[in-house]
Amino acid sequence: MSAEESRKTPPQSGRAVIVAIDGPAGAGKSTLARHLARHFGLLNLETGAMYRAFALKALRAGLPLDQSSALEQLAAETSIRLDPGDEENRVLLDGEDVTGLIRNPTVTDAASRVSVFPAIRAWMVGLQQQQGARGGVVMEGRDIGTVVFPNAEVKIFLDAAPEVRGQRRYEQLGQKGVVAPTPPAEILRDLRARDERDRNRADSPLKPAPDAVILDSTHLTLEQALAEAEKIVADKLRTPGTRS
Ligand code: DC
Repeated sequence: MSAEESRKTPPQSGRAVIVAIDGPAGAGKSTLARHLARHFGLLNLETGAMYRAFALKALRAGLPLDQSSALEQLAAETSIRLDPGDEENRVLLDGEDVTGLIRNPTVTDAASRVSVFPAIRAWMVGLQQQQGARGGVVMEGRDIGTVVFPNAEVKIFLDAAPEVRGQRRYEQLGQKGVVAPTPPAEILRDLRARDERDRNRADSPLKPAPDAVILDSTHLTLEQALAEAEKIVADKLRTPGTRS
């Protein structure tokens, strides 16, 4: 299917398609979402970056990350926008471009902590629904297929064994020219801690939507995973109305 076709199909609900990509940290969601967006001519929205931007603001304000009420107050005076580009999203926090400030371990850990609170999630989900309302998007996160867009035309749950995700994350950091890379064992430990929090929070825990296609990339090369996902999207878009 051409990019032009997928931009237009299938407007079952009066909007263009939504492709939801969910899965645990380090599964390769961002790479996959970016690829699918490019391939099918869609916009790519990384919802994790929104939680990260909010976490950065909370850290800057010196707020305790375990108190919902203070965080809620902060959320009430915060604006967050994703500006999708060809590569990663530009993230605007109260108008400031914080794209380069939200990928470090401190913000990563804080994002996972602030995202457990129902009030924060409800606010974020609203923002994400606004950003994706017109469709024509690949939206990536933890709860896109279950909560943000439960009627998304395509849902992929991308998974991989923790050890494999840890190793990939390590290599990714190395490639970005980090001078003293975090040891793989430490990356794996942080990843497991984040998995634990993301999967076990009471409000919208990370889990596949009942109608999601599970794509386990543990034994796949990047190329194989991308090809598999392309096929899932193309098949779904070719047969609109087959989702349950
Ligand atoms: O995808 P990421 O690693 O950038 O996400 C950072 C944190 O944000 C992650 O630990 C959990 C949270 N998150 C979430 O709860 N729901 C989403 N849709 C996206 C991210």
